[in-house]
Amino acid sequence: MNSISVTLNDRLIRVPCGTTIMEAAAQAGIAIPSLCYLKDYNQPAACRMCIVEVKGAKGPVTACDTKVAEGMKIQTESEFIRSQRKMNLELICSNHRQDCTNCQRFPYCDLHRLCREYGIDDRIHRFSREPEIDASAPHMIRDQSKCILCRRCISVCEKIQGVCAEGITGRGFDSHISAGALDLPLAASDCINCGQCLAVCPTGALMVKDDMELVVRELNQRKKHVLAIVSPELGQWLGTCFRLPGKDDETLKMSGLLHKIGFQGVFNLNAVAAKQEDLLRAELETHTFEGKLPMITADCPAWLNFCSARYPQLEKYLSAQESRTVYAARQVKDAYAQVNDISANDIFIVTINACVAAKTKTKAAGADCPVDVHLTLHELYRLIERVCISTRTAQEIWQTAKAAPFDNIGVESDNEYNDPDVFPVNASVQEIFAGNRTLSCITVSGLNAAVPILERVSRGDPVCGLLRVKACPGGCGNGGGRIRCYDYEAVEGDNEL
Ligand code: FES
Repeated sequence: MNSISVTLNDRLIRVPCGTTIMEAAAQAGIAIPSLCYLKDYNQPAACRMCIVEVKGAKGPVTACDTKVAEGMKIQTESEFIRSQRKMNLELICSNHRQDCTNCQRFPYCDLHRLCREYGIDDRIHRFSREPEIDASAPHMIRDQSKCILCRRCISVCEKIQGVCAEGITGRGFDSHISAGALDLPLAASDCINCGQCLAVCPTGALMVKDDMELVVRELNQRKKHVLAIVSPELGQWLGTCFRLPGKDDETLKMSGLLHKIGFQGVFNLNAVAAKQEDLLRAELETHTFEGKLPMITADCPAWLNFCSARYPQLEKYLSAQESRTVYAARQVKDAYAQVNDISANDIFIVTINACVAAKTKTKAAGADCPVDVHLTLHELYRLIERVCISTRTAQEIWQTAKAAPFDNIGVESDNEYNDPDVFPVNASVQEIFAGNRTLSCITVSGLNAAVPILERVSRGDPVCGLLRVKACPGGCGNGGGRIRCYDYEAVEGDNEL
C-alpha cells in the first residue's frame, strides 16, 4: 500500500494512503478526544470533539472523517482548538441532563470525563432537561435526556449485530434515537437484548437495568442463603473497575470479596456449567440419528431472540440446552439444598457475568427459573462499592481484599478455568465427539458474522455437525454487561472461516 508523509504536532510520520487524521494520530500515539467515533463502524462527525487544525484549511476539521494528504501539517492541540472543543462540549451539555452523582455510568462516562478535562462548569447546565426514561425492556434503560445523538448504538445494532432495532426519528431539536420509525418502547421493538449498544454508549443514555438493590436487600435481610455463581474472568476486569488491574489472583480475590460481603456460597460458573457439555454431546447423538444437523446451540438468550425473529425455520435444529446461568443455578440450588438440608425456597441465587441478555432469564424479570437476579460486571462493581464504601475507598477495598477459593458442593467440574463458552474469536472450526462419531463444530460469535452460515443452513446445507452461535462479537466475555468497548477490531478477530 502506498504511504504518504504528514506532519503531526511538528513530527514527521508516514502513514498509508486513505488513513484518517484520527487513525494517523493513533498510529503516532497521539490521543484526540471523541464522543461519536467508533473505529470502522461510526464516523458521523456528529460531536465535533475531534477537531484539529490543518495548515491552509479555512477552519478546524474533524479528525475522524478527514483523510490525510501528502505534506499535510496537522496540529491536534492548541489554545484555539481547546476553546473550540470546549464550546462544542458546552453545546452538547446544554441539551444533556446532568445528574452525574446519581448516574449509573459514573465514573465511566466519556462526556463527564471530557467536561472535567475541558473545565465545563456543570452548574450552568444542571438538570437542563427532565428525565425521559424507557424502562420497558428487562435488560436495559434508555434515558433520552442524556443522549447526545452520537449514533454509536445505531451503528453497532446495524453493522455489528445486523438487527437494526435503532434509528433516528424527528428533526432538529426533536431528533432522538428511537426503536424504529414508530418510536416504539424498547420492549416492543426488534431489540434482541444483546446489550452491545450499552457497551458503546458514551454517556448514561443507555444503561443496564440495575438489579443491584435487590441483592443488597437480600444480603441485609439475611433471611435466605444468598449464593453467587460468577464467571471467573470478571476478576481481572473488576480490578480494572477499581483502576488496579494486572494481578494474577484477582479471580480468587473477587471470590473472597463476595464471601466477605455476605454471600454464603460463591461458585465458579465455568466449572459448574462445564458438565452441560456432556448433555450437549448426548443430544447431538440424537440429532445425528434423526438427521437434524447441524444441531444449533440455544444457550445464548440474545441469539435465541434473533433466531425466532429472523430464522424461525431453523428452530427445529435448536438444542434443548438452556442458558448456562440457568443450568448452573439449577445445579447449585439442588445440591446446596441437599447438602445443607434446607428448602430450595430458602436459597437466593445471583448469577454474575458479562452477559446482559441473561437478565431476561430471571425471576426478577418474571421468568420461571432458578435464577433470582442476574448482575453484570458494572453492577457487581457497584454492589461492592455500595456494601463496603462507608468505611474505605473503593481502591482500598480491592487492594486489601483477601483471596478465597470458590466453594465446591460436588457439582463442579475439575476443569475450573477451561471455559467452553468464552470463545476467543469470531468464528472457528473444531471437532466434537458425539457417541462414536466425530463431527465438525463451528463456533461463530457476533450475529452479522453468523448470518452467512445461517443462510446456508436455511438453504439445506448442513455446513457442520454442531453450530455454536453466540450473539456478542468475541463471545460471552464481550457481552453488553462489560464496562466499555471502543474498538471492535480487538474483539472480533478473524472473520473468515
Ligand atoms: S469523533 Fe469526530 S465528530 Fe465525533
